Amino acid sequence: MALDRQLLQSIIAEFTVNSEELQEIAANFRQDMKLGLSDPKDSSLRMLKSYVGLPTGKETGEYLALDFGGTNVRVSRIKLSGAGRFEVIKKVGKPLILPGEYDYVGAGSTAVEMFDFLADLIDEAIDRDHETKYYLGHTFSFPSDQTDLYNAKLIIWTKEFATAGVEGKVVNDLLKEALARKDLNNVEPVSVINDTVAVLLSAAYQHSDTYIGSIYATGQNNCYLESSIHDPENVGVGGMILNLESGGFMKLTPNRFDKEYDENSEKPGEQRLEKMVSGRYLGELFGMALAELFEEKGTKYNFTSIDISSILMDDSVDGDRIAAVIKDKTDKDVDSEEAKKIRDLATAIVVRSARIVTAAFVGIIWQRTGSGKINKQHIAVDGSVYEKMPLVKENINKALSELLGAEAANVTTMLDTGGSGLGAAISAAMAANHAKE
Ligand code: GLC
Repeated sequence: MALDRQLLQSIIAEFTVNSEELQEIAANFRQDMKLGLSDPKDSSLRMLKSYVGLPTGKETGEYLALDFGGTNVRVSRIKLSGAGRFEVIKKVGKPLILPGEYDYVGAGSTAVEMFDFLADLIDEAIDRDHETKYYLGHTFSFPSDQTDLYNAKLIIWTKEFATAGVEGKVVNDLLKEALARKDLNNVEPVSVINDTVAVLLSAAYQHSDTYIGSIYATGQNNCYLESSIHDPENVGVGGMILNLESGGFMKLTPNRFDKEYDENSEKPGEQRLEKMVSGRYLGELFGMALAELFEEKGTKYNFTSIDISSILMDDSVDGDRIAAVIKDKTDKDVDSEEAKKIRDLATAIVVRSARIVTAAFVGIIWQRTGSGKINKQHIAVDGSVYEKMPLVKENINKALSELLGAEAANVTTMLDTGGSGLGAAISAAMAANHAKE
């Protein structure tokens, strides 16, 4: 099968963000943050209040951490010893979908089923001990409207979740009801935070100079410490962390694949940035473009971001691993020449993703810095795309240099694995300390 070189080049061009466009995205992102700070209605960024600032690093005690929001749900028991030290005493996890067995995220599932599943996992994490009192921190990785650290109402599902009966509800109330149904009255949920907030809390607990937290995984989103907001309900120091819900940023130019994907998605018109960059979507975009190259426009191939990662990892001359992935997902045989072209397509999609994500980082840094000099700082990032996808880190660094010039030397991204769980435990400690004050 000969893949049309010209068609490939034109598709790659559609997935390319040049330097000028990169600058424009970063500037527009900053502008949307400014608009959002004065009135969120004027911005495509939700800028959601988290009612938590940074930890002092002195938080101590044993807490339960529920990490809910990706393909897997995890519950951990974490002991905080202060000064950045902690120990994970127990950790259990389960996927939210087990094909042929259960599915807690599809349109056919309900809130009761989903939260009962979470309560069962919590029961497992505490070894079915219904006596000892546990405070639980909940990382709930969806846009939520908060009035304090406990009360968070799900605004809208993202990442193609569709469970009925959760949107508009206070998620910790749903969790409390499920805990009561399972006779787990010794477990008390005390906080809800977004996963980006969890990553920032976790990184700030362990290192100084971290003000931005990011997730680059199934979904993509960022939060930052806004030092100008002081609220009596706020817990912690340095101001209030705002969850940007960056995935909803709209001032981008989606190409025809992005548009077509969006039209057929669970929530058309929503999460335009996320649908161009995050792990949930990279494989789908690749599959659509590949179908066109195979002259089978409209055929739905089931590629995941793990497939993209395998394709990019094969830099051999014969491209055997690429051919194996393509055979598995499309039942087509490709030779080494075609494998190379297919890798170029995957490269373009991943590089675009890393560049757009970086433009948002820089928009946040510009907004935080104002007209001054950019201080030395880390951006804490967790997530499989950042951690494992080839080409991502190097393209983030390249785009940082393109956007910030010499000042890029002051900005480093830092992997914060497990931040979603640790951050939840830290938030529970902060809430429990606050309650005692
Ligand atoms: C989606 C969610 C957001 C979350 C991100 C990463 O964008 O809306 O709240 O932080 O995924 O999990």
